[in-house]
Amino acid sequence: MNNNIIDDSMRGKCLLSISDLSLQEIEKIFEVAKHLKSMSIPEQVDNPLLAGKTLAMIFEKPSLRTRVTFETGMTQLGGHAINIQSNDIQLGKRESVPDIARNLSRWVQGVMARVFSHNTVVELANYGSVPVINALSDVEHPCQALADFFTLIEHKQNLRSIKLAYVGDGNNVCHSLMLLAGKVGTNMTIGCPKEYEPDPVILETSRKYASEMGSSINVVNDPYEAVIEADAIYTDVWASMGQEDEKSERTPIFQPYQVNNKLVNAASDDVIILHCLPAKRGEEITDEVIDSPYSVVLDEAENRLHVQKAVMALIM
Ligand code: CP
Ligand code: NVA
Repeated sequence: MNNNIIDDSMRGKCLLSISDLSLQEIEKIFEVAKHLKSMSIPEQVDNPLLAGKTLAMIFEKPSLRTRVTFETGMTQLGGHAINIQSNDIQLGKRESVPDIARNLSRWVQGVMARVFSHNTVVELANYGSVPVINALSDVEHPCQALADFFTLIEHKQNLRSIKLAYVGDGNNVCHSLMLLAGKVGTNMTIGCPKEYEPDPVILETSRKYASEMGSSINVVNDPYEAVIEADAIYTDVWASMGQEDEKSERTPIFQPYQVNNKLVNAASDDVIILHCLPAKRGEEITDEVIDSPYSVVLDEAENRLHVQKAVMALIM
C-alpha cells in the first residue's frame, strides 16, 4: 500500500461536527477513502495503518451500519474495536462522562460514540485526550454525511454543479448534510414542514460556508418545489431514535413529504435516491423508490466503511 497518502496533519483531531473539518481535510478524507476502497483486504492487512491501536465504541442507541462498519474498519486496518453498550457503563450514572473519558484515554487510541445528547460527545472530547468521533447525536451525524457525499462524487462526479434535495425532517442527518453541502459548494434545498425545519443556527452556519463557495442552501415547505431540477433526493425517518413517542403526531404532518414515484418524477431525469438507513418503508420512502435502479442507498451503506476507515487512519 502507498502509505504516503496518509500524513499527520489531522492526527489527534476529533470529528464531532462537519464544522470541525476544512475543505482540504474533507478532500483528504475522500482521497484516502477512494484509495482504501480500491485496495484488497489482504493488501491492507499486509501493511496495516492502525496496527496495535484500539477504538472504544460507545452506543447509547441501536445500530447496524455504524457498529459493523467501525468494527470491520478497525479489523481491516490492523487494529481492534471494543463495543461498549451504555447499559454496561451507564454513561453519566455509574460514572460521569468526564471520568469515562479520562479512563478510556489511558487505554485506547480513539473513542467513537453514538449518544442522545450532543453534549456527551463534546464532554468526551473535552475531558479525554484521544480523538473522539461522533457516530450520531441529536444534532449531527457527520460520518453519514461524509459517506453520502463520497457516494455523490461516485455517481455525479462534480459536487459543485449539482443540486441535492433533502425531503423530510430537518434532523441530525439533515444538519450534517447542510454543513457539508456548504463546505464543498453543493447547492441544497431542504423541503420540510414549517414546524420541522432545521436548526436556524446550523442553517446560518451552512449558508455562511455556502456563500464562501458560491453556492446556496434553501429551505422550502413544498416538497415538489424542493426537488425541482434535483440531481439527488435524500430522505430519512420522520421520527428519529428517541422520538418514537412522537410518531403518531408526526406521521400525518410528514405524509405529503413521502419520497414516492410522483415526487421523484418531478426531479431531474437522472436523479439518484439517497437514504441513510434504516428506512421505514411505506412511510418516508416507498418500496418502488428505494428498490429502484436509481437508488444508491447500499452504496452509501458500503461507503460508511471506506470513509470511516479514512477518518480513523488520519486522526488516530
Ligand atoms: N445510518 C446509520 O447510522 O445506520 P445505523 O443506525 O444502523 O448505524
Ligand atoms: N435521524 C435518524 C438517523 C438514523 C441513522 C436517527 O437519529 O434516528
